Amino acid sequence: MADAIKAGRGLELRPLRLREAKALFALVDANRDRLRRWLPWPDANLTVLDSRAYILWVRAQARLGAALSFGLWWKGSLVGVAGFVWIDAANRSAAIGYWLAGEAEGQGLMTAAVSALLRHGFRTLKLNRIEIRAGVRNRRSRAIPERLGFRHEGTLRQAERLADRYVDHAVYGLLAEEWRHRQTGSPPIQ
Ligand SMILES: CC(C)(COP(=O)(O)OP(=O)(O)OC[C@H]1O[C@@H](n2cnc3c(N)ncnc32)[C@H](O)[C@@H]1OP(=O)(O)O)[C@@H](O)C(=O)NCCC(=O)NCCS
Repeated sequence: MADAIKAGRGLELRPLRLREAKALFALVDANRDRLRRWLPWPDANLTVLDSRAYILWVRAQARLGAALSFGLWWKGSLVGVAGFVWIDAANRSAAIGYWLAGEAEGQGLMTAAVSALLRHGFRTLKLNRIEIRAGVRNRRSRAIPERLGFRHEGTLRQAERLADRYVDHAVYGLLAEEWRHRQTGSPPIQ
């Protein structure tokens, strides 16, 4: 199991544990209406048992190296989840997904969490490409890869079925060489 990752500003990413199912469910339940606007799963997460099943699944995926999700802890509370929703080891490629509680929005916490995931992905997991997909009209979600230097690579039409509609996805990609150049401040070689 991965270790905890410090993301700065008191934010810590910790692998989810079964004993956190109650806290996770309470957070989903309190944010259900916000989350279902952009995510497909809140309507299938209806009891603490669903959150337990999710954590068991996440931990199994982590053991297989197929995904790696973390609880976001800030000021002693769980405030969201972020991680690699899939990892393609053969191509050294992965996608990041995330959500945050309403009261934790607007403070740069998810940008800090994703920045820490980029460091973990490129340095520790030795990934070559990291992708983020966001609904084209999900302004807050799109702002995160845009802030962190991802390139907008295109649009996948009707890529996701939500409760009441299909949404197009904006696809963002960041390559290891681009990330390294951003760290050192020099421009990537064209
Ligand atoms: C997507 C989501 C995680 C974005 O949350 P967020 O709070 O906007 O993102 P951050 O935590 O990075 O915060 C950025 C905000 O904090 C502000 N901010 C303050 N200090 C900051 C800092 N040091 N660094 C970056 N941003 C900072 C930014 O200006 C921005 O606010 P603004 O949009 O009003 O300009 C959240 O809206 C969410 O969970 N939505 C529902 C689920 C969802 O859509 N998930 C993604 C599916 S693809």
